[in-house]
Amino acid sequence: MSQQRRLYFDNAATSFPKPARVLAAMQEYATSLGASPGRGAYREAREAGERLHTCRVRLATLLNAPSPDHIIFTLNTTDALNLAIHGLIRPDQPNHAVTTRMDHNSVLRPLNRLQSEALLEQTRVPVDPDTGIVDPEDIRRAIRPDTRFVAVVHASNVSGSIQPIPEIGAICREMAVPLIVDAAQSVGHIPVDVRAMNIDLLAIPGHKGLLGPLGTGALVIRPGLERSLRTLREGGTGSLSEHDIQPDTLPDKYEPGSHNAIGIIGLSAGVAWLLERSIEAVAAHEQELIEQFLRGIHSNSALNDPGALLPGLRLLGPRSIAQRTGVFSVTVDGLPPARLAQLLEDRYGILTRAGLHCAPLAHETFRTSLEHTGSAETAGATRFSLGPFLTPQDVRFATDALAEICDQHARSPLTTASS
Ligand SMILES: Cc1ncc(COP(=O)(O)O)c(C=O)c1O
Repeated sequence: MSQQRRLYFDNAATSFPKPARVLAAMQEYATSLGASPGRGAYREAREAGERLHTCRVRLATLLNAPSPDHIIFTLNTTDALNLAIHGLIRPDQPNHAVTTRMDHNSVLRPLNRLQSEALLEQTRVPVDPDTGIVDPEDIRRAIRPDTRFVAVVHASNVSGSIQPIPEIGAICREMAVPLIVDAAQSVGHIPVDVRAMNIDLLAIPGHKGLLGPLGTGALVIRPGLERSLRTLREGGTGSLSEHDIQPDTLPDKYEPGSHNAIGIIGLSAGVAWLLERSIEAVAAHEQELIEQFLRGIHSNSALNDPGALLPGLRLLGPRSIAQRTGVFSVTVDGLPPARLAQLLEDRYGILTRAGLHCAPLAHETFRTSLEHTGSAETAGATRFSLGPFLTPQDVRFATDALAEICDQHARSPLTTASS
């Protein structure tokens, strides 16, 4: 049997491949150090602690964060968002939160749980139904005297739509409301500057655009906010062991328990890889791929002509390169999203993700939700997501495959597994 090439277009789930140095750093730690950071005075434990600090310094450099110690390691973006959201809630006071209809379940579900316990009221601000982009003035209008925070996704994992975070950040700062940003799909793809954007709490994955392994993430806290951010977990930190209460010093306050040292050391190598290339160069490469993808899904090269897409194809979200990242969700009339993903894999070895992408309100916005399409089979879209190791030729191959499928389906429907 011939070995078909596998082409990974699911970087929004987790990035693959990782730079070779990520795996080398993890192996080196596992074979030559092995100790738990901050859990001993011997050289290996100290060295492991220093490597974690190096990772914080690298992240602070990448994100223009003022203090490496205010970078808290978490399991993933979801864990960071839960710390931010639950940490800002005051159980003894009225709490209101503002979010958008493009946000992911990692924001929607914690807010809904709090609401179901009568601890929170929320306003979900609508977005433009074509671009998926929010008007910052709608965020301003949604803020109330009891608004505890605003939580906004930076780049959509459904449509790649980039939200105007600098403008939202300026409004939140003016109104003295903390801004939580979910940067799961932006960090490592486009520049993120917590100071310039007035971000108070930034939740990031280590395993997507930062090219580290699964099981890594971080919450970046604006210095001073730790005075009002409650802990989510308490426990041993290796510091101040004589006290049975959680230390107030950072990062220990929010990092009880042994660290995922091997993962964080891999993440550190991924961030070093990005810093060496520069985020601007990585973003420029992705822009070239985005342009290539947009050209490839048009039956002619008129990028902005809505009528000129491949037969039956619909792209969710912005057509403009300036408004998007390299996350493309498409639908083909009469072809269920999972069937399209299966055809792409079986015939071309292209790996995509079909479904609702943990963002049900974003799919409602784009009229691809269960309610709009009428069945679970036809709901959602098929998502291609780009990464730094893809080339323009890979993207061309993917859009040529999509063109072949669209043409064939227009002539004779490809809905069944045998077609
Ligand atoms: C926009 C967005 N937010 C949050 C998450 C959750 O990220 P993680 O898997 O790192 O918890 C994802 C995951 O795909 C995402 O796309």
